Amino acid sequence: MGIADDIAGDWHAALAALAWQVELGLSDIPAETPLDRYDLPEPVKAPPPAPITAAAKAPTPPPPEPAAPNPAVAIDAARDAANRAATLEDLRAALAAYTHCDLKRGARNLVFADGNPQARVLILGDAPGVEEDREGRPFVGQAGQMLDRMFAAIGLSRNAPDPDNALYITNTMPWRPPQDRNPSDDEIAMMLPFVERHVALVNPDVIVLVGNLSLRMILNAKGIQRARGTWAEALGKPVLPMAHPAYLLRNPIAKREAWADLLSLQAKLRG
Ligand code: URA
Repeated sequence: MGIADDIAGDWHAALAALAWQVELGLSDIPAETPLDRYDLPEPVKAPPPAPITAAAKAPTPPPPEPAAPNPAVAIDAARDAANRAATLEDLRAALAAYTHCDLKRGARNLVFADGNPQARVLILGDAPGVEEDREGRPFVGQAGQMLDRMFAAIGLSRNAPDPDNALYITNTMPWRPPQDRNPSDDEIAMMLPFVERHVALVNPDVIVLVGNLSLRMILNAKGIQRARGTWAEALGKPVLPMAHPAYLLRNPIAKREAWADLLSLQAKLRG
């Protein structure tokens, strides 16, 4: 039984298997048995094409092209759907029903949020990765464990029932982009109304932006390492940009600045 039989019917397993083989260096699809290209029979010549008859000449209309996504329509639809959501469950359902964003097509799961909706602190990350896509929860991979450790250092946790010690965690993008590519400006613009509504429904005291994408969406700025640690105001809330935990995993030296930012957050919550 070949790979294809094992994974038949499971599109995601097939995609994962292919991605894995590409990662191992596969560049061509090999045949099951070796092929001696010097000993191949002469190709059989195709018979000459039949003369075209009047009936055959009748034009067959081409299949209709899929409608090109119109960003303005997609953004209006997002604003409409988001504004109609009266609860977080409504908002999750509105995202699940939203069809204009291409990212949704390649994702396994909608990654909506995690933590305590009563929390004083809302963390806005970038986009789900492979583990988040599999589980349908934000920040559950290595970066997520790092994020949990960072905030635990100032007594905050996504599992805390008490709003004072709790975190609510969501992302700029609710679907994992294919190959973890950067979302386009249009995709960011489509998701902004949902994020705005999400923040309005949770109504936290403070928003922490972790990563470049959330910085770009909420503060229209670039370069989280430059922006980090400086409080701003957006969506009617104090906003603190911070280094993404994945960055801290790659650059442990930056943990010192992250610690300063966590202390700044703690002071804000106390003050
Ligand atoms: N990185 C993010 O920004 N969000 C996640 O959910 C996971 C990794």
